[in-house]
Amino acid sequence: MKNYKELLQIYLDYQRENPFEGMPDELYTPANYILELGGKRIRPILVLLAYQLFEKNVVKALPLAHAVEVFHNFTLMHDDIMDNADVRRGKPTVHKKWNQNVAILSGDVMLVKAYQLLEQLETSSEIKMLLMSEFGKMAEEVCVGQQMDMNFETAGIVSEEEYIEMIRLKTAVLLAFSLKAGAILAGASIGEGNLLYEFGIHTGLGFQVMDDYLDTFGNAETFGKKIGGDILENKKTLLWIAANRMAQNNQLAELREWYSSNEISEEKIKNVTALFKTLGVDKFAEDKMNHYFDKAENQIKQLTHLEGITPLMELTKMLQTRTQ
Ligand code: IPE
Ligand code: IPE
Ligand code: MG
Ligand code: MG
Ligand code: MG
Repeated sequence: MKNYKELLQIYLDYQRENPFEGMPDELYTPANYILELGGKRIRPILVLLAYQLFEKNVVKALPLAHAVEVFHNFTLMHDDIMDNADVRRGKPTVHKKWNQNVAILSGDVMLVKAYQLLEQLETSSEIKMLLMSEFGKMAEEVCVGQQMDMNFETAGIVSEEEYIEMIRLKTAVLLAFSLKAGAILAGASIGEGNLLYEFGIHTGLGFQVMDDYLDTFGNAETFGKKIGGDILENKKTLLWIAANRMAQNNQLAELREWYSSNEISEEKIKNVTALFKTLGVDKFAEDKMNHYFDKAENQIKQLTHLEGITPLMELTKMLQTRTQ
């Protein structure tokens, strides 16, 4: 059974051998640029890990692995426009390096390429149809989640339930799809696919809570994004929800004041972060994150008879302590 590192190497070789080609340059170069910037590549690795639970040689799953990573990077390219983000993976975002129109269209073509990769899969037409239909459903859900995230920026109040639903849609369903699709392609039953999907949902919820935590409390060097970016954008993350719940009179007024302003300043980041710290929202987020990862671990226990389960569990442990 191959572990994360070995599968990552196999995937990276495939990615390097299959760059996007075509003219004009402005359409394809940014797509190759963002893919080559790095990143953890956890989604393609989840495809391969799920595949090898049921079938040893992962070669046939590579176009599927690449499809989910291309789709992920398409969402990031557009997300960085929507979030006014200048830095990704420690480098300029596509709309900063080129311009906004380039980032829109190059992102669009990546979505198309993701579908074309799925078409390439060597499998029965039934399985291909199923994977393409589940992919479409997932991709639409990501759009719904992203719009909810945007709507929350200007919403006065957002409940924890609404936040969890938003991150389930914008983030967790892609991790869940990657696992389920990898398993189904390898011949797993729908039941096994659904079990992995649920595991992916809880892993994904923990993963996005961690992303929100690192956006405020992480280290810019390792995280590769601007620390405090969510604060500047008035994102209603779990940190904000917890702060809103715990803050007393003056603190609540201060929080409301900062989140009703569009000020872009280090002062805003510094003050809001200090308030979050005083209220202990960092601890609250860590506990929530662990709660979702624990839930995921419990679900996967039903599959411990499968040999390939160990590297999959190792990857989830890694995600729980990540700094990147
Ligand atoms: C970033 O995803 C977007 C989220 C859903 C939080 P990753 O943290 O997987 O980003 P990369 O691909 O490793 O850069
Ligand atoms: C992004 O969430 C989710 C999608 C791109 C679908 P974030 O906006 O938190 O991701 P980062 O922090 O920019 O990577
Ligand atoms: Mg976003
Ligand atoms: Mg973002
Ligand atoms: Mg984020």
